[in-house]
Amino acid sequence: MKILQLFSYISTLLATSQVPDLHIPNQIHLHLPDLHIPNQIHFLRPLSGAGLQDIPGLSCSSWRLAVETNNIIGWETVPEECANYVGHYMLGQQYRDDSKVVADQALLHTNSINLAGDGKEIWVFDVDETTLSNLPYYATHGFGTTPYNSTAFNEWVEEGKAPALPESLALYKNLLSLGIKIVFLTGRLEDQRNATAANLKNVGYHTWEKLILKDSSYSGKTAVAYKSSERKKLEEDGYRIIGNMGDQWSDLLGTNTGNRTFKLPDPMYYIS
Ligand SMILES: *[C@@H]1O[C@H](CO)[C@@H](O)[C@H](O)[C@H]1NC(C)=O
Ligand SMILES: *[C@@H]1O[C@H](CO)[C@@H](O)[C@H](O)[C@H]1NC(C)=O
Ligand SMILES: *[C@@H]1O[C@H](CO)[C@@H](O)[C@H](O)[C@H]1NC(C)=O
Ligand SMILES: [Mg+2]
Repeated sequence: MKILQLFSYISTLLATSQVPDLHIPNQIHLHLPDLHIPNQIHFLRPLSGAGLQDIPGLSCSSWRLAVETNNIIGWETVPEECANYVGHYMLGQQYRDDSKVVADQALLHTNSINLAGDGKEIWVFDVDETTLSNLPYYATHGFGTTPYNSTAFNEWVEEGKAPALPESLALYKNLLSLGIKIVFLTGRLEDQRNATAANLKNVGYHTWEKLILKDSSYSGKTAVAYKSSERKKLEEDGYRIIGNMGDQWSDLLGTNTGNRTFKLPDPMYYIS
């Protein structure tokens, strides 16, 4: 896709933001190794690759699958050659479609449960790339190909201009209407509370039971440890976690993970 088209894509998708300076590499050309695939699995090969010519995107798509399934862990940046692929994915329909499947399954799960309606049933939502989308930020920072810059990212957080991920906002509204209370549990720091609360409200998350941010006692701890500990406190306070949704495995692993976990896509960064 040409840069100009991408520009118009972004401006349509993210009406709230200006994207002044996109540097997206030209279309990548992958060179597959000289594969010798046994006859019996030929039928598994995509037709377009039958002659062993390049299949643009195939390798990055395998990388993304491995990332989403937690098979590749501990990575710091998106491979440079996948910048274009990840950018297309995040800005295109596939990301939205994938997110919708997650939200739909979450609602299906909730509807399948006999809710007590006692005000103690909660849904735990992560914030970044779960309820709010930082796509306007990442679109100008290489879609995760450049190392995380906390200064730049925190400036963006303080602006409070992240749009909602529409599929999560729709789920949020459905959950509220079923009498489930909302808890936001985020790795954002306690001193980002005001900006985060204002941002959530501005984009439609008008109410919640708790907004839990990472306080200094957790500094140096992993997200798994921090979030497990906070979920444990919630359960000790008598809440029951009906569902737990995040874009990182570290939102969903550990203890007190709730009756079900739901993983949203995020091929842009990894948090342990
Ligand atoms: C990180 O972001 C800040 C603020 O935008 C910028 O001044 C700084 O140069 C960036 N650091 C790196 C290593 O890119
Ligand atoms: C957050 O907002 C409250 C009141 O709205 C204010 O008293 C407090 O100083 C603010 N905190 C920060 C860190 O800006
Ligand atoms: C949720 O999980 C707990 C603990 O596994 C279980 O006791 C409870 O029955 C589950 N509730 C629902 C509604 O599935
Ligand atoms: Mg997140």
